[in-house]
Amino acid sequence: MPGATITGWGAALPETVLTNADLEARLDTSDAWIRERTGIRERRIGGTTIELAIQAGAQALKRADEGRYAVPDVDMLIVSTNTPDPPIPATAAYVQDALGLNCGVFDLNSGCSGFVYALVVANGLIATGMNRVLVIASDTVSRIVDPEDRSTAVLFGDGAGACVLEAKGDHLSDTLHESAGISGSAPPVLTSAESDLLGFDLGSDGSAAKFLYRDHGGYVVMDGQEVFRRAVRATITSARKALDRAGVVADDIALFVPHQANLRIMEAVGDRLSIPMERTMVTIDRMGNTSSASIPLALAEAADGGRIKPGDLVLMSGFGAGLTWASAVIRWG
Ligand code: UT7
Repeated sequence: MPGATITGWGAALPETVLTNADLEARLDTSDAWIRERTGIRERRIGGTTIELAIQAGAQALKRADEGRYAVPDVDMLIVSTNTPDPPIPATAAYVQDALGLNCGVFDLNSGCSGFVYALVVANGLIATGMNRVLVIASDTVSRIVDPEDRSTAVLFGDGAGACVLEAKGDHLSDTLHESAGISGSAPPVLTSAESDLLGFDLGSDGSAAKFLYRDHGGYVVMDGQEVFRRAVRATITSARKALDRAGVVADDIALFVPHQANLRIMEAVGDRLSIPMERTMVTIDRMGNTSSASIPLALAEAADGGRIKPGDLVLMSGFGAGLTWASAVIRWG
């Protein structure tokens, strides 16, 4: 069974910065409250889910192809989003067209856990014979929060992150590939290898949907305290399961990349897992909560900033509307 590895990553953020001071000017809130209760200083807002997804996806594909084959092919495109622009067709259909891909596409909605869900699905598709899967998580929650509701309006930002997941093993060189008369798809994998997705846990408690939801045409409704409590519990349990299934312990983890919903949640989880903040990726101060894009955005920043190197173990863990949760331990490829 072919294993999978991450060969490219990308990120996209809108240019407009919304600071706590901007929010102070129009809401009954304060910079001090927002920073102390959430860890957020500013967030990026604007753009559409499709535009941001295209940018992040293009970047991930470019990086995956650097120094390798001139083969843009992807066998499947998965877009995780809770905030599609038009609800029909899938966001992934628009992104496919813009990126010039010739492949199957679908959207996945698992709340803020969506990126980890998509990564696990992509790993499964590669195990069944696909060569390359592009996973994008793109969300623009700032558009669906009530601008007058201080309990949600201060939390969310917009953005997209992406990863290319590729079959591991020795590929035929381009020349051999051509001389073998194969064209129009990525070079076939000759050998199988263990996947770099070492262990994962996916879960959901649909009875808790009432704590975080949005109706057609409405705004996001959230019971912040209840979601906070459940998020801490679910993330700890889920992360532990992923670590156990990967056969590793918290000390083996070079970097923890949690969903960026609240700095206090990250600190509480890290404390219980015995992963110090020095080994935890934090972007919430500059990006706010970007929903399912938060984990791949943080992962991309970690990779670009040299915080993870080949062979390092990374623990990702998210939770969100559903209420869903998802954790995965990967070896950085
Ligand atoms: O990614 C999706 C998952 N979402 C989450 O994980 C969010 C989880 N929840 C949270 O992050 C936190 O619950 C919040 C940041 C949403 C709220 O923080 P909190 O510490 O739980 O505050 P609270 O809801 O208990 O409210 C405390 C006080 C209240 O005032 P009173 O009743 O004590 O007078 C709120 O009305 O803070 C007030 N408050 C605010 N004050 C200033 C709520 N929002 C604000 C605000 N500025 N923006």
